[in-house]
Amino acid sequence: MFTTRQISSIAKRAFSTSTSSNAAKVAVLGAAGGIGQPLSLLLKQSSLISHLSLYDIVNTPGVAADLSHINSDSKVSGHIPDKNGLKEALTGCDVVVIPAGVPRKPGMTRDDLFNTNASIVRDLAKACAEHCPKAHILVIANPVNSTVPIVAEVFKKAGVFDPKRLFGVTTLDVVRASRFVSEVKKVSTEDAKITVIGGHSGVTIVPLLSQSGHSFTEEEVKALTHRIQFGGDEVVKAKNGTGSATLSMAFAGARFTNSLLEATVAGKKNIVEPTFVKSDVFAKEGVEYFATNVELGPNGVEKIHPVGKVNAYEQGLIDAAVPELKSNIAKGKAFIKA
Ligand code: 2OP
Repeated sequence: MFTTRQISSIAKRAFSTSTSSNAAKVAVLGAAGGIGQPLSLLLKQSSLISHLSLYDIVNTPGVAADLSHINSDSKVSGHIPDKNGLKEALTGCDVVVIPAGVPRKPGMTRDDLFNTNASIVRDLAKACAEHCPKAHILVIANPVNSTVPIVAEVFKKAGVFDPKRLFGVTTLDVVRASRFVSEVKKVSTEDAKITVIGGHSGVTIVPLLSQSGHSFTEEEVKALTHRIQFGGDEVVKAKNGTGSATLSMAFAGARFTNSLLEATVAGKKNIVEPTFVKSDVFAKEGVEYFATNVELGPNGVEKIHPVGKVNAYEQGLIDAAVPELKSNIAKGKAFIKA
């Protein structure tokens, strides 16, 4: 959920007509898709964005024309592959958000998307490494546990990898966790802040309910943990073959992008979001990327928070997540090395 701070800052932006003099060029790659369109709409409200650059294989000129009528001050441009569109979209970018790729159908795991989305993300990452090597790259495209290492390997090959500037967007897991816990405990979402660590699929999503300050029965813990881990499946099932979470994912992606802009462009301190980044937290266990709460700063990752105290049940969840994460990360790396 947005914090009170974020809600008031978004409200201020909604009524403000001027962008900050210190504002960023932000690209959305996959901007005409199910996540890309609502994400772009939410980002159009940000006064910390001076230029919203929308890229997709089709339809972005129309999406850009539509959004460009909204009376916030950012410029909006739409690009397609024609006429060097990707280069145009990326040149000068400070932040690139990547929701591109295909969504799940009922019965699929995020890993089942690997074959299609890995090459899409690889090609977009190559273009980012070439045209905006210093941009912060925010990966939404699934499977995030593998696509983040894919981007890293592409950037390494190009000699421009900065681990502080690469983020897997796992915000939807804490958004869901907050909402689900608020429903069970009958409290406001503001009073249901849940730490979620690990990765962004099934058992790699590890909610740490014991750190929430609420008490739960054993049944509540099991049911909530399962719902947070597999919340995405509820949406895939309900959409009945037409896709996965797009609106809540756009909300989560916008929240993370706004937080990053507040830390980088506005220079705000103490901005903390969970995100899947290159991390030492489970490096000894061979897990190179891991999501925990991360303090964001002017250069991206400022400080990776430790996991903190966990109970035996949560330790069991971590133990189940580690091998799965290792294999998801290795698969992404191998794809680029091959
Ligand atoms: C989800 O968690 C789409 O990965 C996204 O639903």
